[in-house]
Amino acid sequence: MRVAVFSAKDYDRESLAAANEAHGHELVFFEAGLEAKTTPLAQGFPAVCLFVNDEANAEVVQVLAAGGTKLLALRSAGFNHVDLGAAHAAGLTVARVPAYSPHAVAEHAAALVLALNRRIHRAYSRVRDGNFTLGGLCGFDLHGRTVGVIGTGKIGVVFARIMAGFGCRVLGADPHVNPDFEAHGSYAPLAEVLAASDVISLHCPLTPQTRHLIGAETIAAMKPGVMLINTGRGGLVDTRAVIEGLKRGQIGYLGLDVYEEEEELFFADHSSEVIQDDVFMRLLTFPNVLITAHQGFFTREAVRNIAETTLANVSAFESGEGTVERVLPPE
Ligand code: NAI
Repeated sequence: MRVAVFSAKDYDRESLAAANEAHGHELVFFEAGLEAKTTPLAQGFPAVCLFVNDEANAEVVQVLAAGGTKLLALRSAGFNHVDLGAAHAAGLTVARVPAYSPHAVAEHAAALVLALNRRIHRAYSRVRDGNFTLGGLCGFDLHGRTVGVIGTGKIGVVFARIMAGFGCRVLGADPHVNPDFEAHGSYAPLAEVLAASDVISLHCPLTPQTRHLIGAETIAAMKPGVMLINTGRGGLVDTRAVIEGLKRGQIGYLGLDVYEEEEELFFADHSSEVIQDDVFMRLLTFPNVLITAHQGFFTREAVRNIAETTLANVSAFESGEGTVERVLPPE
C-alpha cells in the first residue's frame, strides 16, 4: 500500500523502514505535520500515517477521504487528535497501536518523580559549575509515602508496581476496576486519592470528560506541597491553574511530559527563536518544575513496536487478514 507518513523524524524513517522489510509497503515520508494546509500532500494515498500532534479534524478528514484515503494509521495509543465521528462518516478506518510499551511511559513518570524529589535537574548543573553545596537539594524518602494513580490501565498498573517497589502506598482512581492494579494498590474515590496522596500521576486518556481534570478545584483538594506528574496528555491539566498552585506552594513539584499547547512547540528545535507561549515560559521559571518534550514513549523497544504494529495494521487492512487495531467512534 502507498502510505503517506506525516511528522516523520529520522527515528521514524529508520524504524518504519526496518519494520517494512516484512511488509513491502511504499512509504513516503513527510517531515511536515498533518494539518489543513498540508493535507494536499496526502492526495491519492490510500493510507496516511500520523503521530500525536498531527491534527485529523473534520476538515482534514473530509479532504483526505475525497483524495482517496481509506486508512488512518496512528503511530500512537492515544487518538484524541482524530475526529473519530468525522472519520467514520467519511468512510475512513482509524487504526492505532494500543500497547507498545507501557514500561516506557511508566518508567519515564518514575524518572520525573525521582529527579524532582532529589532535584537531579538542579544538582546536575550545580556540580558541572563546580558548586558542590547541597542547599535546596533536600528530598524526601519515597518509602512510606502515598502515591495516587489516576487511570489504572496498562501504563498506570506498571507505574503502580514501580512505586509499590519503592515501598509506597498506592491508591488508584478509575471508573473501571482493573484486577492487575489491585495487586499493587487499592482503589478509592478521586476526592480521597487527591486528598491523601503525596505524589499524583496521571495515566488516563484525554476525553471531553477528563479535559482539565486537574484544575483550580482539584488542586485545592490536594495535599499542600503535592508532587504532580503528567505523562498522559497536556489537556488533562489546566496549566494556568497549575501555575497558580505552584505560586502558592500548594503544588510543591511539577513533572510534565505533555503540555496543553505542545503542538506549537514539541518535536521541533525552537532554540534560536523567541518563544511566544508566555504560559509555557512561566512554567520554566520555577525551580521545582521539570518538563520533558513528550519523550515518555521514546525507548528503542517502544519505537520498534510502534513501527511493527503500525505496518501490521496497514497490511491487515489491505489484505483483510489478521487484526486491524481499529478505533471506533464513541456510541
Ligand atoms: P489504557 O486505556 O490502558 O488505560 C487508561 C485508563 O484510564 C483506563 O483504565 C480508563 O478506565 C481510565 N480512565 C478513563 N477515564 C478516566 C477518568 N475520568 N478518571 C480516571 N481514570 C480514567 O491506556 P494506557 O495505555 O495506560 O495509556 C494511558 C494514556 O497515556 C494514553 O491515553 C495516552 O494519552 C498516554 N500516553 C502518553 C505517552 C507519552 O509518550 N507521554 C505514550 C503513550 C500513552
